Amino acid sequence: MKNFHPFTSLQGKFTLYLSILILATMSTLAYWNISREKKLMQDVIVKEGKALVESLAISCTNTMLYEEIGLIEEGGLLDNYISDLMQRKDLHIIYAMILDSKGKVIAHSSMNEVGSSYQDEITEKILTSWNTLLQYPSENVLDISSPLAISTKRWGTLRIGISLENLKKEVSSLALKYIFYTGGLILLATGVIGLLFGFITKPLKSLTKEMDGMRSGTDPPPFSETADDEIGILRKSYYQLLKRIKDDENERERTQRNLFLTEKMVAIGKLTSGVAHEINNPLGGLLNCIYHFKRRDLSPERQLEYLQLMEDGIKRIQKTVTNLLEYAQTPDPERSATDFNFLIQKSLSLLDYQIKKKQIEVVKEIPEKLPLVEVDRNQMSQVFVNIFLNSIQAMEGGGTLKIGAGVSDGRLVVTISDTGKGVPEDILPKVFDPFFTTKGEGTGLGLWIAQGIVERHGGTIQLSNGEGQGAIVEIQFPIDRK
Ligand SMILES: Nc1ncnc2c1ncn2[C@@H]1O[C@H](COP(=O)(O)OP(=O)(O)OP(=O)(O)O)[C@@H](O)[C@H]1O
Ligand SMILES: [Mg+2]
Repeated sequence: MKNFHPFTSLQGKFTLYLSILILATMSTLAYWNISREKKLMQDVIVKEGKALVESLAISCTNTMLYEEIGLIEEGGLLDNYISDLMQRKDLHIIYAMILDSKGKVIAHSSMNEVGSSYQDEITEKILTSWNTLLQYPSENVLDISSPLAISTKRWGTLRIGISLENLKKEVSSLALKYIFYTGGLILLATGVIGLLFGFITKPLKSLTKEMDGMRSGTDPPPFSETADDEIGILRKSYYQLLKRIKDDENERERTQRNLFLTEKMVAIGKLTSGVAHEINNPLGGLLNCIYHFKRRDLSPERQLEYLQLMEDGIKRIQKTVTNLLEYAQTPDPERSATDFNFLIQKSLSLLDYQIKKKQIEVVKEIPEKLPLVEVDRNQMSQVFVNIFLNSIQAMEGGGTLKIGAGVSDGRLVVTISDTGKGVPEDILPKVFDPFFTTKGEGTGLGLWIAQGIVERHGGTIQLSNGEGQGAIVEIQFPIDRK
């Protein structure tokens, strides 16, 4: 039975497609959810940071105002605010400072920054803005600043930096969770598909095994009922198909046998009616002669004439019976490697007298070296004599008898053509029938006997009309016949 590659099997394909689907869905879901989550967390940080800075800005502004009008002595109050700010652990503040209106640091979470003056782009913006500003000096830092001002009077700016490192960490851990869930889901899907397919393919595999075990032409094993599901239906259909094939095969065999029998009956019918005709005719003549002899009313000349007629009739019956016997008793060919050049020449020499008498020119187009073919020489000579005789008989006033031979497609091909009267198209299909003759003196067995011999040698014989005048007989034999 065929083993499936994990990626070409249905199970493999299903797992792959489902994994891709899960991966795509989870990635989209993760992207969407992580972005949303990140934005929400960032919004909370911004909101809290802003509220913190804005509320502390009021205290800082008041302190600076009271100090200016001499109500209080500053004496480290601003530094206190800054260090209070730095105590807030929830916001991850990394720096806090108060700048004066020129950008000089008045108070700072890192003491040694006090006194320095910032001139960078972000500070420029902060100093000129009259609103709370949110800026990102780097990817992971949120800078919130609020002016320390009342109406148009400004004392400076409160500014804090919040680290977004934690936010990033939380986003990463969320992404990791998604990767973990996706992997888990894919594993689960593979397991479920494996189980499901095992369940579905088990009966399929056993059906395949059954199919493998069945040979065409053999009777399908008895059908045993199975589940009523799709596979059960498939199995049932397969059994029905097998049964139909078997029935069709039986029917074909029956038809073939009938056809063979019919052909045989037709052949026997032709033969017996031919025999009856060929023997009955001369017998009728003979009976007629006997009748006249019995009446003793024949002159001596007539008696001689009748005796001659009787002899002819008996000879004719003898010829027919001899031919038939010869055919019926033709033993299996006694094969020996034969040179057709020699065989054709020998057959021609048997007909020398008729050839000379009718002044027929014989043209041989046979290569000197022909492959030897295993045939029964006597039988094959009889074939050629029959065919040559037909040609000679067809060429009443002389003509040309052409004999060619050659090898084509592993077969020896011999063609015999004449310049005789040819064969009328309507009798062409009958020339190989036993007793079919258009000649008064013929038995009509010549071609029938020749065909029998050629076919027993595994060859074929055909008669057709030549392109110009006359008939052509073509005989083919397989060369490699062991
Ligand atoms: N070369 C040919 N030219 C024309 N007609 C032919 C030729 N060969 C065969 N035939 C036709 O085929 C018929 C059957 O030939 P076949 O050799 O079987 O019998 P036959 O020659 O008539 O009688 P037999 O061979 O017993 O003397 C012939 O009567 C003839 O009409
Ligand atoms: Mg003949």
